[in-house]
Amino acid sequence: MTNHYHTCSSGNHTQPSSKDLKFYLGVYGGIAAANSVFTLIRAFSFAYSGLCAAKIVHSKILRQILKAPIKFFDETPIGRIMNRFSSDICTIDEGLPFILNIFLAQLYGTLGALVVTCVGLPWFILVLIPIAIYYYFIQINISRAEENIQHYDVTDLYTFLRISGRAYNNQSIEGFSEDLLVWCSPIPYPITSLLINLVTSFTETEKNMISMERAQQYIDGVPSERDQAGMIAPINWPSQGRIIFKDICLRYRSHLPNALDEVTFSVEAGEKVGIVGRTGSGKSSLFLVLFRMVEIQEGSVTIDGIEISQLPLEDLRSRIAVIPQDPFLFNAPVRENLDPKGIHTDSDLWLVLDKSHLRGVVQRLGGLDAEVGELGKKFSVGQRQLLCLARAILTEAKILCIDEATASVDMETDHLLQQTIREEFADNTVLTIAHRIKTILNSDRVLVMNNGKVMEFSPPYLLLQDSSSYFYRLVNAS
Ligand SMILES: Nc1ncnc2c1ncn2[C@@H]1O[C@H](COP(=O)(O)OP(=O)(O)OP(=O)(O)O)[C@@H](O)[C@H]1O
Ligand SMILES: [Mg+2]
Repeated sequence: MTNHYHTCSSGNHTQPSSKDLKFYLGVYGGIAAANSVFTLIRAFSFAYSGLCAAKIVHSKILRQILKAPIKFFDETPIGRIMNRFSSDICTIDEGLPFILNIFLAQLYGTLGALVVTCVGLPWFILVLIPIAIYYYFIQINISRAEENIQHYDVTDLYTFLRISGRAYNNQSIEGFSEDLLVWCSPIPYPITSLLINLVTSFTETEKNMISMERAQQYIDGVPSERDQAGMIAPINWPSQGRIIFKDICLRYRSHLPNALDEVTFSVEAGEKVGIVGRTGSGKSSLFLVLFRMVEIQEGSVTIDGIEISQLPLEDLRSRIAVIPQDPFLFNAPVRENLDPKGIHTDSDLWLVLDKSHLRGVVQRLGGLDAEVGELGKKFSVGQRQLLCLARAILTEAKILCIDEATASVDMETDHLLQQTIREEFADNTVLTIAHRIKTILNSDRVLVMNNGKVMEFSPPYLLLQDSSSYFYRLVNAS
């Protein structure tokens, strides 16, 4: 190589031998081939690791969010949570690997060009130092702007600032590029262009990294429900369905009054209890306590002799059936909605659909594998409640909780619901929060709530005989 260099630069203009030419073409070809191979490896590894990273981050955030207490959902706007799962995951999945790939390619390209330029033009190092300092300050400004954007959490405001931040960044870089071109006019143009591209890709990478930081904040910062179990629930628990609430005090926030105030009552095995009271009296809170959706300040709940605070949350929640006021269906086939764990046979599923008077509807939709649509929109509200009832029957739970199940349902569906509940849960404990007093007039006992306290807990016919009872006034007022 040295010989060849001397030959070319000696002024004799000797043509390189064809052997030399072949050698250098070979080296050049080798570098090009290696470059292609490494580029391919780089592109593949970035795409693959980006996908893996997004998958891991997504499942970690999901796990954390699913374990979060109700308080977290009360305090966090749903849009913000959705943003973590949509735009942030999308950035980690697509944007970040893409721009990081470009940034690293440009970084090494620029470093190579700078080394070659410095070897050829050593005085260039003198120019490089002020450029580096200038770049450093521009970079600090841009990073500060990004930090500001990051601190705004309200989704819309964030979007607005992100757009203006991007405009600011671009303006800074454009200004920077113009200055640099004028300033470094004796410097070979490709170097300035490389430097400008490097700054742009670096700021873009940093901006995309914010999504990763926000995801990490959720993974590390979202609190989890307390789930330190002292024991595992016996396999057949609860076998009778006897529930005891003892001195329960519940406060949603430290500055709020008690939503439940020293609530004490006990429900016998197989008893049908109606729960009534004015709005805000604490009816739904009783169910939240039963499912340990909220942390109580004082007291204990015992089901069949086992204090529920001792049990793992999954055991507790999977052994009690609930029909919520707002019946929830997954965007999935009927089969998965009825039997999310996939442990029942088709004939079991059709049997419960028969019992909840839904066979015809599901057959018309296309059978067990028919999709229920987004949040079950292919069904009416009443049919969704019947589907929740079918799900409850399938769990064979000894305790069924119905929260205002008849609130937004027509009379016919209400009648079907009540009939099925009477037939299928004849031996089970059923707690019904009732909107229509008529629904609970057949109950064994009625629990009347007011301002978080238990006012009365007696058979309805006894309460109706006493004109001074709270229940009597409620019935007459309705
Ligand atoms: N997540 C919450 N955060 C703060 N306070 C709450 C929360 N849920 C309920 N409360 C308060 O607790 C009290 C009892 O509410 P709860 O929902 O148990 O009443 P309810 O009897 O079910 O009322 P409704 O008939 O309207 O459903 C109310 O004062 C309510 O404002
Ligand atoms: Mg309620």
